[in-house]
Parts: sequence; C-alpha cells; structure tokens
Amino acid sequence: EKDGYSSFMLKEINEQPSAVEQTLMGRLDQHGNLMLDELRIDESILRAVDKIVVVACGTAAYAGQVAKYAIEHWCRIPTEVELAHEFRYRDPIVNEKTLVVAFSQSGETMDTLMAVRHAREQGAKVVSICNTNGSTIPRESDAVIYTHAGPEIAVASTKAFLSQIAAAYLLGLYLAQLRGTKFADEVRDVLRELQEVPAKIQSVLDAADEVKDLARRMSTAESVLFLGRHVGYPVALEGALKLKEIAYIHAEGFAAGELKHGPIALVEEGQPVFVIVPSPRGRDSLHAKVVSNIQEVRARGAITIVIAEEGDDAVVPYANEVIRVPQTPVLLAPLLTTVPLQLFACELADSKGYDVDQPRNLAKSVTVE
Ligand code: BG6
Repeated sequence: EKDGYSSFMLKEINEQPSAVEQTLMGRLDQHGNLMLDELRIDESILRAVDKIVVVACGTAAYAGQVAKYAIEHWCRIPTEVELAHEFRYRDPIVNEKTLVVAFSQSGETMDTLMAVRHAREQGAKVVSICNTNGSTIPRESDAVIYTHAGPEIAVASTKAFLSQIAAAYLLGLYLAQLRGTKFADEVRDVLRELQEVPAKIQSVLDAADEVKDLARRMSTAESVLFLGRHVGYPVALEGALKLKEIAYIHAEGFAAGELKHGPIALVEEGQPVFVIVPSPRGRDSLHAKVVSNIQEVRARGAITIVIAEEGDDAVVPYANEVIRVPQTPVLLAPLLTTVPLQLFACELADSKGYDVDQPRNLAKSVTVE
C-alpha cells in the first residue's frame, strides 16, 4: 500500500500535486465566481466578521501562519494565529464578530477541539479545515471545509499541510469576494495561479534526487537552522519541525529579520542554514533583504542551502547549494518551497535508519490534553 515508496511519508509527499488539486477542484460557478457551498454560515454574519482567529497545533498551526498573510492581504480582516492549547487558557477576546478557523488534519486533536468549544461558548462562529470526514472537530463546528488530501498515515504531516493552505486560501478568497475587498477578476487571477500549483509541485518532486543527495551528504549534521521572511517564515518553522520530528536533529526556524537580534550568534564554521528566498518579482525589498541575510550567515562560515525561484541568479554567489522552485506569486510560494524541506527531512531520517513513518514519542493524533 506504499505504492513502491520506502515510506508512507515519501508516498504522501509525492501525492501533494493531487492533494492540492483535489482540494481546489470544482470551485468556480458558471459566472467565474468562487463557490464555497460548504460554508453554511449566514452571509450577513460573514460580512460582519471583524477578526479571524486561527487555532491549531503543530504543522497545522504553521499552515495557519501562512494563511494569515494571505487572508489579511485579501480580506483586510485582522487575523491572529494561536496554538490551540495557549488560546484556551488565556481568556481570549472572542465574540459574535469573531470567526475562528480550526485547522486539523485528524479532526480529533483534543486541544484544538477544546479551543473550538471555548470559541463557540463565547458566541464566535467556527469553521474547521479538516482532512477527516465526520471527525469530531468538524461535527462541533458551524461549518467545515474539507481538504481532499486522502488519508495521511505518516505521523509527520505533509500533504495535509499543503492542502490546509489551499483550503484556507479558498476561504480567504471567498471572504474577499463576499466583502468586496477584492474584485471578482482579482479573485479569479489568484484562482488561476492556484490551479497551476499542482503541476509546479510536481516539477519540484521531479528534481527530488538532488535534495535527497544533499540530505545524505548532510546526515551527520547536529543542528540545522532555517530562515525565512513573510510567508517564508512559517515555511522555515515547518522545515525545522519536520527535521526534529523524524530525524531527531536539533533544528530551529527563524524570521530572517531576527538574525541580528540573536540567532546569528549560533552561526559558526560549518553550520548548515536553509534560507527560503522570496520571489525577486515580489513587492518591496524583501528579496534583497533575504539575499543580504544569506550573505551575513555565509560570512560567518555557514553552509547555505538556498531555496529560490528559477531564474533568481542573485542568490548564486552566496549559496553553497541552490534548490530551485518554479516561479509563482509570493503568497503561493509556500506550496512549493515546503516540498524540498519535507524531502530533505524524510531522506535524512531514512539515511539514518529511522522509522520515518512512526517517529519516537509522537502520535499521529493527540487525543489527550
Ligand atoms: C501532532 C502530529 O501530534 O498533531 C502533527 O504529530 C500534527 O503532525 C499535529 O500537525 C496536529 O494534528 P491535527 O490532526 O490536529 O492536524
């Protein structure tokens, strides 16, 4: 049932083009408007939402962090992302105008479920983004957007992560359309770009051998750092989490802008540092800033592994290794840049002889507090 792959995790990484495709499928009506029929919450309530709070744990929370950038940009609704177990215990400000979005692959994570209950008790509406039909969190939510990633067996989440981002983007675009913060043709443009993402993920997967080779060469690393800005920041956190979870390597993700406020002190000769580089076609000077971050760590002896768009030559002089991803709009980049990090962790853990699918001390779904 692993379809010839050495692990479920590797199989699931390879299923990501179809997982994202299935999640996006059949969303346009005959006028080209985005439909989200399952969002069975009164439109007047959705128009009145003045705050969105994402609650989740682990990888799902990082998907929420990615979605925050897109939702705030498209909808102009303040969006917070909070670990479900922190949210519950801090007397959060939640009311009838708050839309709580619970991300959960399994739909059974106890902390996330408790956060959902707490939010509804305060009068908030709850939408869940979930991969498991009929599980508890969707049953206790006001509405559910299912990700159609198919069953995820490996403990470390991969295809569910990308599908959660895709589903959250649909939600964000739908709210933007409903509230008029983005015009229909702008929403359609993003949707058109989203439709192209599965084929782009496939092209990242087609180049997996390079990443695997790198992972084998780095299998003695004792610590790995990950840097990113904007949506690349949660991708860095997710890359570090994957490595901790399955390869048991100390790994940390940082916002690249924080480097000089602390993390750069960790960098010494031979320290591997992954850097997720935003598109040079994006706005502002984000790309240039990240390139100078690569320079800064390289100057202190880091081995820099750079994930950059095809055609981005500015990174080459400072990169020990460059992993290429196809060009895509800035907000969609996490759907591509995460993939090499998953492959890296999976191959590195495998090369150490670890059980990639069943890492020590971890469970697929944590149904206790
Ligand atoms: C963890 C899993 O325990 O729970 C992670 O090992 C997952 O992979 C997290 O991201 C949250 O799970 P769920 O099912 O709520 O998305």
